[in-house]
Amino acid sequence: TKNPGEIVVARAGSPLVIGVGHGETLVASDASALLGHTKQAIYLNDGEVATITKNSVEIKTLNAEPVSAKVEEIETNLAAIQKNGYEHFLLKEIMEQPESLKETLRGRIDLRDGLVRLGGPGLKEKELRKIKHLVIVGCGTAYNAGLLAAYYIEQFTPEVTVEVVIASEYRYRQAYIPKDSVALIVSQSGETADTLACLREIKKQGIKTIGIVNAIGSTIAREVDGGTYVHVGPEISVASTKAFTSQAIAMVMFGLTIAQAKGVRNNILRPYIKEIAALPGEIRKVLDACNEPMKQMVEQYIKYEHAIYLGRDTAYPVAMEAALKLKEISYIDANAYAFGELKHGPLALVDDRFFEFVMLPEGDLYDKAVSNVQEVLARGGHVIAVTNKEEFDLPVENVVKVETSLTIFAPVLLNLVAQLFAYYMALCKGYNVDQPRNLAKSVTVE
Ligand code: G6P
Repeated sequence: TKNPGEIVVARAGSPLVIGVGHGETLVASDASALLGHTKQAIYLNDGEVATITKNSVEIKTLNAEPVSAKVEEIETNLAAIQKNGYEHFLLKEIMEQPESLKETLRGRIDLRDGLVRLGGPGLKEKELRKIKHLVIVGCGTAYNAGLLAAYYIEQFTPEVTVEVVIASEYRYRQAYIPKDSVALIVSQSGETADTLACLREIKKQGIKTIGIVNAIGSTIAREVDGGTYVHVGPEISVASTKAFTSQAIAMVMFGLTIAQAKGVRNNILRPYIKEIAALPGEIRKVLDACNEPMKQMVEQYIKYEHAIYLGRDTAYPVAMEAALKLKEISYIDANAYAFGELKHGPLALVDDRFFEFVMLPEGDLYDKAVSNVQEVLARGGHVIAVTNKEEFDLPVENVVKVETSLTIFAPVLLNLVAQLFAYYMALCKGYNVDQPRNLAKSVTVE
């Protein structure tokens, strides 16, 4: 009442952005909220206080020292935060993965020389060669993407150990990080409080930090030593889909740059690079082929309250991510296990209250996984199998065959089927797919 037409805002921890409009000033927690009003944004830093009127913005520190406002152009356009004809953001984001992954790869893959080139991490060849240990930090889907990348990186990077950690745990662990380590800080929003806290702890130990971030200009992106933006555009649905695919592949590409620097032979790395380049096209094929069938299939499963997701090797983190998707949006109690762990407990669960979603990519461990599925079937399991194996004759309830020429990254394609399955399950149950209960897109508090 004393100062009409004036608002005072301050930033402490959570993001805060000021939009400079025509005859209006706006305040938001995310730049995309300003689109449609203005493209000029001022990002406040922690400990800054801004006094705004419709025509002015005055920024000071907590000690009342003036700060000069840096106005930045928001790169996102309005179309990127609209549904473009889709009923939900989630379906749109699942369907746009061919394009969003292309953005992740743009300018970073040299197919002719069979090389990956990442500028953002800012590590010299000599520094890459010295890396002996990678710590990958994330929460939720970002953590799952890290796990998946770790399985791949270990396949082609000699003498490097990869440890994937949950940020909320790691920040309070007394973990020793060897000096020759690099930490990958994975976050779609770049604002997750636990991930940010880990970043700060790790930096204190003098370890190089590389961000695998989507939101441009976010806190994590600004605080890391270097980084690779995944460039998937705004992800609006709370359940993360396109970010997962691109985060995993961006980390694999980072691993490839280490392997290249360490002199791993090109004939070992080339198949990975070729498949990564082919992934966007293969993703399109799988999405087109599986959308309708998944829509039909879910009806048979909405009566269940429990689901078990199974996979092994690279398909295990994929099973974890797939289970997370289902529980987030359809509120079905879904847990993932490595096939080999079945006999150590989960097999006792198999009965008519559960269905089992099994990931069966073709490969060295396929036969072993199949025998695990047989164990589930012998106990009356209700199995949905997703596979890229052509001949498949197990007596499962449903099989989804994914047709692809890829082998190494086939599990990434199987995950698309699980994303669609989760989407249609939630839709069929009548839930709010984009904003599931109790969850937030960006978790800026502990
Ligand atoms: C929240 C979101 C998840 C996301 C996680 C980590 O829980 O709902 O979709 O995976 O945070 O978010 P980040 O932005 O750090 O990737």
